[in-house]
Amino acid sequence: MSNVFSSTHPLVAHKLTKLRDINTNPKKFRELVRELAALLAYEATADLLVTPRNVETPMTATNGYELQEKIGLVPILRAGLGMVEGFWELMPSAEVWHIGIYRDEKTLKPVEYYNKLPVEPTVSVCLILDPMLATGGSAIATIDVLKRWGVKKIKFVGLIGAPEGIEIMQKTHPDVPIYLACIDDHLNQNGYIVPGLGDAGDRQFGTA
Ligand code: PRP
Ligand code: URA
Repeated sequence: MSNVFSSTHPLVAHKLTKLRDINTNPKKFRELVRELAALLAYEATADLLVTPRNVETPMTATNGYELQEKIGLVPILRAGLGMVEGFWELMPSAEVWHIGIYRDEKTLKPVEYYNKLPVEPTVSVCLILDPMLATGGSAIATIDVLKRWGVKKIKFVGLIGAPEGIEIMQKTHPDVPIYLACIDDHLNQNGYIVPGLGDAGDRQFGTA
């Protein structure tokens, strides 16, 4: 699993445990999703390209860097929305392009319902945001959309991944690295991640 990153950071482990807790209310849940997203953003952007730029400090002129790549954040509605703020704290000028996809409850297949991407890509790297990588259907459908859009560099950033979803993602889109807070045990018969955290959208928006 060479292109799968699963965090070993103690802050991530601590916050993820609170996130999983059935007693965590939606307000706290949203706060934790935002904080975990910021911690993962740091890892997922470690290989962004920079160009040299001179800078004048109060003491002298010196060499520095600025980001070369134009970043697009692609939250999968609904649950991915909660990760945007965490990323924006670190990269405030990133564009946000929403993709609306839900899983059909019976078939577990992704159903796309919202996409306002312009004809030409406006960014050079896309970071797909979704807390849950379960069967992988939603993530794969989103990557398909972004590749058709013409973006070459795509990464998936989630909080919890199931082995089943990771495996199919790697088979279908081996060029897309996956960044997660944790890899869980398995999917249950309803396609939910175990131990997981339940329904990430419902827990954020109080709609359980
Ligand atoms: C959840 C989650 C992912 C998807 C993951 O969304 O936020 O998008 O399920 O499952 P998959 O890997 O099997 O596709 P959901 O379909 O519940 O939509 P919602 O966020 O609008 O509630
Ligand atoms: N979507 C969720 O929100 N949770 C899961 O466990 C699986 C899919």
